[in-house]
Amino acid sequence: MMSPFPLISFLITLMLAAAACTHGEHILVKDTEGIPLRTTEQYLILPLNPKSNGGGLLPVPVKLLPLCPLGISQSSVRALPGIQVSFSYPYALMDTYVSEKEDINIEFKSHAWPGCEEFSKYWEVDESSSALEEPAILTGGKKREGNSWFRIERQEDFVGGVAYKLTTLTGTIGTVPGPWENAPQLVLTNDTSKTFLVKFHRVHGDTTAATSTSRLEKLGLRMFPSN
Ligand SMILES: *[C@@H]1O[C@H](CO)[C@@H](O)[C@H](O)[C@H]1NC(C)=O
Repeated sequence: MMSPFPLISFLITLMLAAAACTHGEHILVKDTEGIPLRTTEQYLILPLNPKSNGGGLLPVPVKLLPLCPLGISQSSVRALPGIQVSFSYPYALMDTYVSEKEDINIEFKSHAWPGCEEFSKYWEVDESSSALEEPAILTGGKKREGNSWFRIERQEDFVGGVAYKLTTLTGTIGTVPGPWENAPQLVLTNDTSKTFLVKFHRVHGDTTAATSTSRLEKLGLRMFPSN
């Protein structure tokens, strides 16, 4: 008579193998050219849909009291690419590729900055007591604090390309009409109708970076007349 144990241990082995596989499987995030994202590069986070009502991402004030740290909004001008970011791991020692569903930091990379210079350019979820039900995504994050950790996830049900969304353990980054000409402002939400679908465009060399920086400076003057 056959003991049931070989079968059970076989099943357990199978399950462990499956778990190990899923865990060890790092699916790399790809840019608009299909090249894996690297922590050494800089990228523009662009709305997937060119018909969406906003352009690239900019740091803007989203609340009056306090005004700082700045929040993040899509440009009200669709054609503007916004400011580039870099992705990194909170505890990584080496430069590496960016994988899906792993905690990463997102940091704006720009010298053109509209104010609140005392805050970092890392993204964070607003956890202040005044945070609303759909808390704002702010700058001023800290690399090793949980509310500055985001994940990049593939949006599976998109046909014709790779669409990504940015998530945290408690929600997905979506957009709501913001204070600047209703330009979409980034918030954390559970409402899938608000999900901000994005693609990552690698910024090539210094020329592109310089161009988008000077464009931002012009826009910055327009958005912050007091400067
Ligand atoms: C989303 O739902 C989860 C589970 O109900 C909750 O813990 C979390 O706070 C919600 N997040 C937002 C941004 O509403």
